[in-house]
Amino acid sequence: MPAIIDPFYAMEINRLAHRLKAEGRSVIHMEYGQPSTGAPAKAIAVAHRVLDTEPMGYWESVELKIGLSRHYCRTYGLDIDPDRFVLTCGASPALVLALASNFDAGDRVALARPGYVAYRNVLKALHLEPVEIGCDASTRYQLAAAHLAALEPAPRGVIVASPANPTGTIIEENELRKIAAFCRERRISLISDEIYHGLCYGRPAQTVLVHDPDAFVIGSFSKYFSMVAWRLGWLLAPAGRVERTRAFAGNMFLTAPSLSQHAGLAALEAHDELQEHVSVYCRNRNLLLQALPQFGLDRIAPPDGAFYLYVDVGHLTNDSLAFCETLLKETGVATAPGIDFDPVDGRHHIRISFAVSTAETEDAIGRLEPWFALRRRR
Ligand SMILES: Cc1ncc(COP(=O)(O)O)c(C=O)c1O
Repeated sequence: MPAIIDPFYAMEINRLAHRLKAEGRSVIHMEYGQPSTGAPAKAIAVAHRVLDTEPMGYWESVELKIGLSRHYCRTYGLDIDPDRFVLTCGASPALVLALASNFDAGDRVALARPGYVAYRNVLKALHLEPVEIGCDASTRYQLAAAHLAALEPAPRGVIVASPANPTGTIIEENELRKIAAFCRERRISLISDEIYHGLCYGRPAQTVLVHDPDAFVIGSFSKYFSMVAWRLGWLLAPAGRVERTRAFAGNMFLTAPSLSQHAGLAALEAHDELQEHVSVYCRNRNLLLQALPQFGLDRIAPPDGAFYLYVDVGHLTNDSLAFCETLLKETGVATAPGIDFDPVDGRHHIRISFAVSTAETEDAIGRLEPWFALRRRR
């Protein structure tokens, strides 16, 4: 029987936001996790040249894989064989590849709740069983090795994400080491979604590969590199699993877009420009963390990374989708409903993305303040 999966409700908010905009309303897009900055200048310059000079076709850039290997060396001090990078159209197909090439139908895969909407739904689409572990403030909404040890029977796979979507929290390095050791001992496949690496507001996030060279790592140009629309990412497969992963990739997706591969290689060298974006997000994060508690929104796990605030609005609603719709219609601020990330407690959470400009963040705070103040008085 075909799997039944939930919609991505933030897309409904996005559609409503565009409808309101078309009607002439001013909207601030804080519903999607996408940088508003566009690709780095170096990447755009290369893309112009390639468009003018190359016919392009199905292609896998060896230079980009070497560039990614250099990126891992610079960032984590790791020496990774460039051949282990399987280039994909973003993290989304990398997730599909990691799951399809690792598991049999019916296998149980553990993940944190709240977590990124596609984990649960892609698992279901592939006839795998999501084992969602409710995580709370005591573990900063992240999986811990103790959660996994308590599962009976043990899962066949585990997905971790650090920094995470929707909370932006990081798994402490010692805990990540324990999770990796637990998975290795029990021969559990470990998949680490590292899409938000580079976007951290304190210490940088560590790759799981320093603890387990056989983990599968998902990466993307969508977030730190500010290239969402270019649809480029990678799955870093363990040495013994590259051929198998590549066979799945070729059959399911062929190759990543050639233009994006050229541009992505240039983006790997755009550190200065990209660090400026991180400074903007950091400023936005601090402004929101300062402002929101003043209008009654004080149950937030301060994000270590990514560009989200996951806010408990349980004193105001039990229906986060309706809440986001009303908030958008009445203030023009688009946010994502918590039910995307948590089918149980997400009813009373919203996610605010601060991957916008600081002027938009200030504008959003100015609109939200009187709206929430009114509700607090009721
Ligand atoms: C945790 C996480 N993984 C994967 C993705 C998919 O990203 P991509 O645009 O690279 O497909 C997202 C997108 O928001 C995400 O938040």
